Amino acid sequence: MAEVARMQASTHVRHGSNVGQPLTRRDGVLKVTGAARYAADHHPVGMLYAVLAVSTIARGRVAFLDVAAAKAHPGVVEVITPANRPALARDPDEKSDPFTFRLDLLQSDRVRYVNQPIAVVIAETLEAATEGATLLAPRYDIEPARVGLDAAESFVPPAVGPGYPAEEHRGDVGAGLAASAKTIAATYETAAQYHNPMEPHAIVAAWDGDTLSIDTPSQGLALAQVRLAGLFGISPADIHIRSPFLGGGFGCKGMISGPQVLGAIAARAVGRPVKLVLRREQMFGPVGHRATTRQTLRLGTDQDGKLLALDHRTKTVSSTFDDFFEPASAASRTLYASAAIATSHEAVRADIGTPLFMRAPGEATGSIALESAVDEMAHACGMDPLAFRLENYAEVEPMSGKPFSSKALRECYAKGAARFGWERRPLAPRQMRDRDGFLVGWGVGTATFPALMFAGNARAALRRDGSGVMEIGAHDMGQGAWTALAQIAADALGLDIDQLEFRSGTSDLPDAGIAGGSAHTATAGLAIHNAGADVIARLAELATGDERSPLFGAGNAGVIARGGRLFRRDDISRSESFTDILARAGLAHIEGRGTSAADPVAQADYAMHSHGAVFAEVKVDPDLGQMRVTRVVGAFAAGRIINPRMVQSQLQGGMIWGVSFALHEQAVVDPRSGRPMNANLAEYHIPVNADVPSLEAILVEEHDPHVNALGIKGVGEVGITGTAGAVANAVWHATGVRVRKFPITLDRLIERHPM
Ligand code: MOS
Repeated sequence: MAEVARMQASTHVRHGSNVGQPLTRRDGVLKVTGAARYAADHHPVGMLYAVLAVSTIARGRVAFLDVAAAKAHPGVVEVITPANRPALARDPDEKSDPFTFRLDLLQSDRVRYVNQPIAVVIAETLEAATEGATLLAPRYDIEPARVGLDAAESFVPPAVGPGYPAEEHRGDVGAGLAASAKTIAATYETAAQYHNPMEPHAIVAAWDGDTLSIDTPSQGLALAQVRLAGLFGISPADIHIRSPFLGGGFGCKGMISGPQVLGAIAARAVGRPVKLVLRREQMFGPVGHRATTRQTLRLGTDQDGKLLALDHRTKTVSSTFDDFFEPASAASRTLYASAAIATSHEAVRADIGTPLFMRAPGEATGSIALESAVDEMAHACGMDPLAFRLENYAEVEPMSGKPFSSKALRECYAKGAARFGWERRPLAPRQMRDRDGFLVGWGVGTATFPALMFAGNARAALRRDGSGVMEIGAHDMGQGAWTALAQIAADALGLDIDQLEFRSGTSDLPDAGIAGGSAHTATAGLAIHNAGADVIARLAELATGDERSPLFGAGNAGVIARGGRLFRRDDISRSESFTDILARAGLAHIEGRGTSAADPVAQADYAMHSHGAVFAEVKVDPDLGQMRVTRVVGAFAAGRIINPRMVQSQLQGGMIWGVSFALHEQAVVDPRSGRPMNANLAEYHIPVNADVPSLEAILVEEHDPHVNALGIKGVGEVGITGTAGAVANAVWHATGVRVRKFPITLDRLIERHPM
């Protein structure tokens, strides 16, 4: 806190540069006063309430729904089932491309997972709709549920994650292991995790003829528009989505989900606005999740602890009706140097909702296994696990052979270790105790996440009154996009941020690409930067070509914009205000546009990643096995930092999820029924404040000239990676017990070894 406050005080010194300042969230006051209206806060006149009825079985058919009983309820207006669901223009099971995922929109009586929507009840009140859904009292033809990693024969998927190859190798891992002085082999399991942003999926939908207007949280407005347009057979331009505030996203709002579409179907069916909000337990099925994995790693080193072989095999689970495969082994393609590396994936199909993108998909799952295995390897070599990592981290990306566009990982290791006090760590486990007799352990993990960029568009204008506007359909999931992107916009237009109107979060604005893959600041930011540059170039043309301007003859390249004025670069005593330039030209405003995209040449030449090093301390009760994380220090290099306050918050959020991954979070599925047994926030454990007493995210300065023109990398996901492994390794260091099934719960710890 103190550090943030100091940074805040220094902002005035940096007058003229909005980027780099730790501004507080521009939407913060709206949120804490309740003035920010989230999707479910909207109540258009005449609005009805829709409630989903969802399946309680994992596989089979809905044999009977008591629609008559539900309709007899005095508040119930309509019940939609597969028997009367209005026709759609496209089959929701149509797979037009790998990123169009199949949706359950009441297309049949088939049940393919627990919590699948089987009917929508629409009523005058929420209570009536809820009661109506209960009155449906479904009966099923039940077929046995196929559950978990051994549900069926496995196969090699055609691709994993967002289109990565399932198998990739370099060198001969078998030969590398045979030639190794020391080897380890270990199998790790990670739990299924379900999306639980504070705000569940919600939609308020209203039709006006063939025009659809909706309030719903979205990480991808344009994608949602296109999907809805296809399903309803209307033009994307006739769909208006408002999504100014999201109560968290983490990937589950990247593509519009089935329940959101059902809200729009319901509104069309009854010809009135309809609100549909998922209940918490309904999040455990139709909106994507992180699939369980079983990962086997085999590592080998020479006498000096240099890696000779790294083999990373993942088995994961997808649904029976669509393809998404958690790309956990991909983590081993990019981090540690080894003469031979093999990475592969296999999968089984089970009766679950399709797994999908969830914060650091693959990277998080793979990282905890890889970092644990690297730790086990270091121990087998008798080496300090940080020293082992310093010996073995890659200078060029091992699988692709490409140099990194920049890499400040060594500095992350050094800064993190110094701040944490790592040099006082005893090599052997179970050596440290605190005053109360708790076992203390320290662990380290390396963080990495690809620096991605998508295509984005922005529109900007400067007005004669000295103000400016930037328009972009960007998404603030709570990560601070509205603030950070406005900072980039203000600099791009040469304005103080108070002079800028920043319009964002609706689908009528230029497409900013998806807020995912930790790529939003880079993608939207560069489009904004280019739109601002376009406006300034047009303005400069007006001034430098006009004899009456003090800038006459300066040429486009010869001016800079700052504080609402253009200055001659070679003589800053010569300047003119935007207002004067526009007034003389007789213009009310001047407009420009910008786009962004990844640079294919740079992408071909360089591997692009954010990096970090995370150090964790845990304390373990030697009698009860209860574990507490007491300290986490992460040092991260993520290119140019637009707003250090937002970035630290993002990194800390990721680190908390890392703690959660290691110790808390898991969906417990009943193997007999396929039902998640803890589909609520009481029993689906996530860390609360008491679980994370001290967290520090150190920002390591990094200038990456290749990643994009602004040098921005992502910070949303990298914080989970590294942290999860660091915590797991700290538990081992405290206790001498290596639990390879995550989360490490106290029963698993005690079962492996009585404390
Ligand atoms: Mo993220 S899983 O790309 O929202």
